[in-house]
Amino acid sequence: MTDREVKVLGISGSLRSGSYNTAVLREALRLAPAGMQIEMADIAGIPLYNEDDYAQGFPPAVERLREQIRAADGLLLVTPEYNYSMPGVLKNAIDWVSRPPEQPFAGKPAAIMGASPGRFGTARAQYHLRQSMVFLDVHLLNRPEVMIAGAQKLFDPQGTLTDEPTRVHIRGLLEALYVWTLKHRG
Ligand SMILES: Cc1cc2nc3c(=O)[nH]c(=O)nc-3n(C[C@H](O)[C@H](O)[C@H](O)COP(=O)(O)O)c2cc1C
Repeated sequence: MTDREVKVLGISGSLRSGSYNTAVLREALRLAPAGMQIEMADIAGIPLYNEDDYAQGFPPAVERLREQIRAADGLLLVTPEYNYSMPGVLKNAIDWVSRPPEQPFAGKPAAIMGASPGRFGTARAQYHLRQSMVFLDVHLLNRPEVMIAGAQKLFDPQGTLTDEPTRVHIRGLLEALYVWTLKHRG
């Protein structure tokens, strides 16, 4: 790996097989600029957070995610919006990962995007996610904001993102994340 190459971990906050957000993350893998490699995390196996379980140690799925975050130069968080916030599965994964020792989010460069069939394209969820990331000392990219509204109209029946302006917008975010990650990685 050269010093111009960055490894980004993508985390989708949806477990749904037909998820728009996971599809958007898959598209990001295709749109990544030269020098950026994106790997997709899997949060499906993470149990519900319970302090009693934490006292016994991190479950394997959590340990794996912590290691993936630690190994990544940057993060790409893709969130659906549930009841004006991020889904519980994503918050639950973040809560597990955030526990001591050495929570791995600290100091990571990151970007957020999200897709929703609604009119606001996950804006409210993204700002809740940003709030949690501030507490975890993540270095969040401010712009461009990728809030994909009316998502059901932007995919083909196979679940591939076909809307060109949206693809260009995502590409812009990835290019900004690339520069941001080079600037901020430890
Ligand atoms: C419990 C629940 C709450 C939702 N609340 C919102 C909401 O507040 N805003 C919104 O735009 N969409 C809302 N939706 C619709 C989701 O945006 C939609 O189901 C979307 O497809 C979820 O993302 P995914 O396709 O990646 O799974 C909600 C869906 C569920 C299941």
